[in-house]
Amino acid sequence: MEPFNIAIDGPAGAGKSTIARLVAERLGFIYVDTGAMYRAVTWKVLQLNLPSEQMEQIGHTAEMMQIELKRGNAGQQVFVDGADVTNEIRLPAVTNLVSHVASIGRVRELLVHKQQQMATSKGVVMDGRDIGTHVLPDAEVKIFLTASVRERAERRFRELTQSHPELKLETLEADIARRDKLDQEREISPLVRAEDAVLLDSTSMGINEVVDSILQICRNKVGWGI
Ligand code: CDP
Ligand code: CDP
Repeated sequence: MEPFNIAIDGPAGAGKSTIARLVAERLGFIYVDTGAMYRAVTWKVLQLNLPSEQMEQIGHTAEMMQIELKRGNAGQQVFVDGADVTNEIRLPAVTNLVSHVASIGRVRELLVHKQQQMATSKGVVMDGRDIGTHVLPDAEVKIFLTASVRERAERRFRELTQSHPELKLETLEADIARRDKLDQEREISPLVRAEDAVLLDSTSMGINEVVDSILQICRNKVGWGI
């Protein structure tokens, strides 16, 4: 099989990282979580106590920091300047600020360049918001994965309720709707479906069903496997 690239875009909680990781495993490809890279910059901004309106300073911080994605036993690990921040980048403080940081032109320019370099040898499954439209416009397979806002909030709720019993479904739903709006309405590389992306609405689909659908799309598009 000739290696090829798969771009998976879609809104928060659609299942992108879960599905992208499994598809990469099945194909023996490398998984790249671009959201984790925007979260890493946001984590650094919070560490440095930078005011969120200091766009230029945030861009400069992104230039100076080193972000590494490594494959660990429990999935992908994220390092900033050598420190493991895998868990910290998922904290609510980061989630609340990340869409703002991700709207800064210089930050996007730097991270997009890094993401494109990661995919030059092909054999990559990359998930995010602008992969099919901007980062890898020539990806052989493009998927736009979505689900209703309610279903996405319920998925997050099930995921977080053990560790954060105080969280309310309504709060999660409002947070997801707010981020959807910011990501869809920003000026640079907004979240939109690429014209040539296959739309997969996973509202009533299980994880394995979505993975199998994407593998089938790969077979149809690039003639991979049986
Ligand atoms: O996992 P979740 O859906 O909560 O979000 P994520 O994939 O970790 O991405 C966090 C945020 O980063 C998104 O809400 C976007 O604002 C931003 N992002 C982006 O702008 N472009 C990407 N390629 C990936 C993420
Ligand atoms: O990366 P993204 O924000 O798009 O979503 P995720 O973090 O991969 O998935 C959010 C949650 O939904 C996880 O707990 C998944 O296990 C779950 N999920 C699901 O229940 N059904 C699916 N078809 C896909 C994901």
